[in-house]
Amino acid sequence: MSAATPARPLLEVENLAVHIGGLVAIADMSFAVPAGQVVSLIGPNGAGKTTAFNVISGYMRATAGRIRFEGSDLAGLTPERIAARGLTRSFQRSSVFAGCSVFENALMALHLRGRAGLLGALLALPFARREEKQLHAEAEALLALVGLADRAARPADSLAYGEQRRLGIAMAAASRPRLLLLDEPAAGLNPTETEALMALLRALRDQGMTVLLVEHDMAMVMRLSDHIVVLNQGRIIAAGPPDAVRRDKAVIRAYLGSAAEEALHAEA
Ligand SMILES: Nc1ncnc2c1ncn2[C@@H]1O[C@H](COP(=O)(O)OP(=O)(O)OP(=O)(O)O)[C@@H](O)[C@H]1O
Ligand SMILES: [Mg+2]
Repeated sequence: MSAATPARPLLEVENLAVHIGGLVAIADMSFAVPAGQVVSLIGPNGAGKTTAFNVISGYMRATAGRIRFEGSDLAGLTPERIAARGLTRSFQRSSVFAGCSVFENALMALHLRGRAGLLGALLALPFARREEKQLHAEAEALLALVGLADRAARPADSLAYGEQRRLGIAMAAASRPRLLLLDEPAAGLNPTETEALMALLRALRDQGMTVLLVEHDMAMVMRLSDHIVVLNQGRIIAAGPPDAVRRDKAVIRAYLGSAAEEALHAEA
């Protein structure tokens, strides 16, 4: 019998707990992200999604539990060390360098992981000059991937909101991470921009990137995800493929609960 051993997931979160002061932001959270998939972490406001991202990417310490990336424990590593291993994140509010062109932004992101580095480029060292040429080509490819090739010369802060968000994702993807964590990339996007973003995320996945997504746009989550983990008040209340999660009673209750609450606040 040749039972194939299932491949080890790229990311494994085991019994994670995060206490902030007296507050339990995350309690006993376990889930896995298999390589090559889009996994989404969803839940009402304050559920603990960004907190989970902060801990996975090294910006916050866990109170208990373990996080393994490619089988090795990330405990105690800085965000830089974690990024160097191939796990990067975007922030809920994306940031591009406003004073620079779109092309310069892409170039800077590539430099941050380039061998010669920014200093070598500034000093125009010979090996840096060769690399510079290659980086220029890569920056062009990166901008083409996110549909911003024709915006390269424009100042980054002159881009439409959705374009700035895509540039932010391009910059996070520049280091070619194996796992990319995206916190609400569709926030504030119009339907056309959301479509462009979804195409971009599919393209990244097709290039071998694994994506862990936090997103409130349920239509996007349902269409894009292979697997969905639902958090409510720091605890996982459901997990599974989109069709199962969509019909889950606890999930519906959690969302209706928060929607009803929002409606009440809106009326107050
Ligand atoms: N630095 C902090 N200090 C105090 N409390 C915090 C901190 N960060 C998060 N929290 C609390 O932890 C809980 C989880 O917050 P978190 O930001 O992870 O939620 P979220 O699921 O990302 O919500 P949203 O959908 O609104 O972005 C909330 O109760 C929040 O108030
Ligand atoms: Mg959040």
